[in-house]
Amino acid sequence: MFVCLGNICRSPMAEAVFRHLVKQKGLGDKIFADSCGTARYHIDKPPHEGTRAILNLHGISYAGIKASQLEKRHLSEFDGIVAMDSENLSDILRIKNKNSTAWVKLLSDFSKGNWRDVPDPYYTGDFELTYKLITEGCEMLLEHIRNTSSF
Ligand code: 4NP
Repeated sequence: MFVCLGNICRSPMAEAVFRHLVKQKGLGDKIFADSCGTARYHIDKPPHEGTRAILNLHGISYAGIKASQLEKRHLSEFDGIVAMDSENLSDILRIKNKNSTAWVKLLSDFSKGNWRDVPDPYYTGDFELTYKLITEGCEMLLEHIRNTSSF
């Protein structure tokens, strides 16, 4: 489960990119990805036009993706929760309780690059940089899952 603040820019981009990579590796029936936001401002909205534009440019589908809010149950329904930035991470950790079985990490924890937070293009306007970091992080996340799973 990819998590950002509004679930219209970064985490839906990560969901679409990750699904694309999963499909390319033929693991579409093994790995399920979703995304949500810590805030409820944009529930049911499609991804931001900047996110749609960069995904279109790279031929990556975002069909069916619409915004939803993080719920406590996600921390036991998903194997892992991937936060886009440090604020998202602390918001997720705040709702974690003894029933939460999922691991919780930053996307950059999987990257070898020298960055920590995925910059929020809602404010920066730089969807290119966000796409670049998300792609690198998602490639490494998938690599990690493949190295630590039985498939
Ligand atoms: P996201 O970006 O967390 O990457 O989806 C944002 C989208 C909307 C808002 C903030 C961040 N907002 O305040 O409406």
